[in-house]
Amino acid sequence: MTIDNLNKARFSGFLASFDRVIDQANGDEATILKQGGDQLQQLVSHDDWLPEFCSEPHPQHYMQYLLYCDPNERYSVVSFVWGPGQSTPVHDHTVWGLIGMLRGAEVATPYENTNGDRLLSGEKALLKAGDVDCVSPRLGDIHKVSNAFDDQVSISIHIYGGNIGKVKRHVFSEADGTPKEFISGYASNVMPNFWGG
Ligand code: FE2
Repeated sequence: MTIDNLNKARFSGFLASFDRVIDQANGDEATILKQGGDQLQQLVSHDDWLPEFCSEPHPQHYMQYLLYCDPNERYSVVSFVWGPGQSTPVHDHTVWGLIGMLRGAEVATPYENTNGDRLLSGEKALLKAGDVDCVSPRLGDIHKVSNAFDDQVSISIHIYGGNIGKVKRHVFSEADGTPKEFISGYASNVMPNFWGG
């Protein structure tokens, strides 16, 4: 999408709806994931609003562009851009997260850290365009995610219960489950007033 024909109203409308969900849920995670997930599902069922500068892959690694951060850091929205064949390490989030597939597809493998010294992998799930998934420390917070395609870019939209670029969390060794702290940051930030007007 070029800047001129972007449907900015779609994303700003989504933000207004998501704000209402957060306000009314009053911290209840199950409500946020259900009602917020419905809002995200509507957002990712249309691919006419994401600016090109937030959909550029990098040849070596996946990219995380900050689309919006709530002024009180109650939540943040990120476009997660996969180059062909790219994947994350095994990692956690420490806050709730919603994942909505906008373009292409991704494969998520859940992990459990049993006794803190071994990772057990669960069943892989394929997320296709229009699908929504969630993570949280309550439901299962450790996973590894990959682009489902070796020959095309995939993009998912993520919402997290905090300013995820600043959150201290962990990557885990696949060999022995050893956690290592990391802070992801962002590839770039959309100016806060970009979506307004
Ligand atoms: Fe993740």
